Amino acid sequence: MSRSSPDAVLIRDAVESDLARITEIYNWTIVDNHVSFDTEPFDEARRLRWWKDRPVDLPCLVAEIDGDVVGVSYASRYRPKPAYRSSAETTIVLDQRHLGRGVGTTLLGAMVERLRGEGFHRAIAIVALPNDASIALHHKLGYRTAGVLTDVGSKLGEYWDTEILERPLTPEGS
Ligand SMILES: CC(C)(COP(=O)(O)OP(=O)(O)OC[C@H]1O[C@@H](n2cnc3c(N)ncnc32)[C@H](O)[C@@H]1OP(=O)(O)O)[C@@H](O)C(=O)NCCC(=O)NCCS
Repeated sequence: MSRSSPDAVLIRDAVESDLARITEIYNWTIVDNHVSFDTEPFDEARRLRWWKDRPVDLPCLVAEIDGDVVGVSYASRYRPKPAYRSSAETTIVLDQRHLGRGVGTTLLGAMVERLRGEGFHRAIAIVALPNDASIALHHKLGYRTAGVLTDVGSKLGEYWDTEILERPLTPEGS
C-alpha cells in the first residue's frame, strides 16, 4: 500500500466488493465516448465474469480517497500467445470527479511498480485518440509512443485511431 499527497490517495489491490464501483467508474468511458472500445456498458453479471476470468498473475489496483474508490487500473494479457506473457497491457480509468488532480499519476505509477516487481518486461498501453490526458499521463510515467494505428476502431458512427505506447520495466538488454 502507498499514500501520496495532496489528495491522500490510498492504492490497494481490488477485491470483489469493489466491482460495483469499478463498473460505475469504467462505464463513463463507454457510453457516448470513444475512450473505451467497449460498446455496451458493463452490468453486474458481466463485470463479475470479467473478475472471475482474470488471470491471477495480473494485478488490478484501485485508488481510494476518504474510503471511496475513485479509480481503477488493471493489467491484461497484451496478446494471448504464450510468448507475450512477459508483457502486460495496462488500463486506467478514474471517476470523472477526480480528473486532473494527480490520482492517475499515483495509480498508474503504482501499477508500473507492481508489474516491475512481478517480473514483467514490458507494459503496453493502447489509447484511443484523441486523449491528451492519457497520452500526457503515460509519457510522464515513462511510456514511449511506439506508433499509431489509423481507423482501427469503429464506434459512434466514426473510425478512431489508437496510439500504442510501451514502457520498459527492466533495464534495456536484460
Ligand atoms: C487519463 C487519466 C487516467 C489521467 O489521470 P489524471 O489523474 O487526470 O492525470 P494526472 O492529474 O495524474 O496528470 C498526469 C499528467 O497529465 C497531464 N494532464 C492531465 N489532464 C490533462 C488534459 N486534459 N490535457 C492534457 N494534459 C493533461 C497533467 O498535466 C499531468 O502532467 P504534468 O504532471 O506534467 O503536469 C484520466 O484523465 C482518466 O481517467 N481519463 C478517462 C479514462 C482514460 O482516458 N483512460 C486511459 C485510457 S488507456
